[in-house]
Amino acid sequence: MTTLPMSPTLTTSTGVPPALELRGLRKIYPGTPEVRAVDGIDLTVAPGEMFGLLGPNGAGKSTTVGMCTTRIRPSDGRAMVTGLDVVADAARVKRRIGVVTQTNTLDRSLTLRENLRYHCRYFGWSIGDSRQRADELLERFRLLDRADAFPDQISGGMAQRLQVARAIAHGPEVLFLDEPTAGLDPQSRIALWELVGDLRSDGLTVVLTTHYMEEADQLCDRVAIVDHGEVLVCDTPERLKELHGAAVAVELTLESPPDERLVARLAELPDVVGVERTAGGLRVLADEHEGLVARVVVAVGDAGLRDLSVQGSTLEAVFINLTGRDLRE
Ligand SMILES: Nc1ncnc2c1ncn2[C@@H]1O[C@H](COP(=O)(O)OP(=O)(O)OP(=O)(O)O)[C@@H](O)[C@H]1O
Ligand SMILES: [Mg+2]
Repeated sequence: MTTLPMSPTLTTSTGVPPALELRGLRKIYPGTPEVRAVDGIDLTVAPGEMFGLLGPNGAGKSTTVGMCTTRIRPSDGRAMVTGLDVVADAARVKRRIGVVTQTNTLDRSLTLRENLRYHCRYFGWSIGDSRQRADELLERFRLLDRADAFPDQISGGMAQRLQVARAIAHGPEVLFLDEPTAGLDPQSRIALWELVGDLRSDGLTVVLTTHYMEEADQLCDRVAIVDHGEVLVCDTPERLKELHGAAVAVELTLESPPDERLVARLAELPDVVGVERTAGGLRVLADEHEGLVARVVVAVGDAGLRDLSVQGSTLEAVFINLTGRDLRE
């Protein structure tokens, strides 16, 4: 595993190649009409960085990861992992990367422990080293007490932890996580975030895709917002919110789930740029603070307001401002 220092931005003076470098990367699926899944992406990820690709369904996130991880052949452009070309040097790239794909790829006929051991053996580790590594990872990912269970017998959160453990078992330098927390309950999601955060402090570069803006915001040093196969903006979450976000977000906790009429009423208020549904109610995004809360409270009327708080901008607001749509449309 690499021990390169964590760096939020690209450093070129060290002579160390970027962990990931994409130049004009494209994937076009033929057909009528053709699908421009990835349409000319340029990105550079520094060693040790935690980098997020944030975008709605169909934005091209998985296709981008597929090309970076040698699974999908680019139509045009280049992807380099730690200085190695993913097409010309695919075999060496595979040793340097760990991958968790969007779908569960655990071997269901093997126990958790065996899934890890076999992975190490596949990468040429000795039987003894593979055993030791498997046990170390089971402990670290809090799976030891279920080590002899089969993947079908464990929870979604555990399966996802095992997939991450397996992905790093052979000591890669760059870890790709495609929607690592999709479908997980909030608690499992937070547990996974913590584990991924720990990996980063080991010096591993992490590239993750997500359509959860909180995930990108909390976990990533930098985020590229992708839509229709293109990068719209790429910066730290703070800078993105500062430059492209809404001025303010009003969080509403409601007695019961809001109906469409309430959402429409709020969306029509002056200065409001978007209304999102949240676990507890609604989030109203606006680009002006003055008089907003009073207008929101009036608009909510007798819809059962339990709580209200005013917060800064979100990455969702950035996406709405850039595209006129929200991340789930
Ligand atoms: N093998 C394929 N053949 C044709 N079109 C494809 C193929 N794979 C993906 N696409 C299309 O390419 C676009 C990008 O898909 P991709 O899976 O990369 O998006 P994504 O951002 O990962 O979305 P999601 O959030 O749903 O996972 C979509 O329009 C998808 O339908
Ligand atoms: Mg995907």
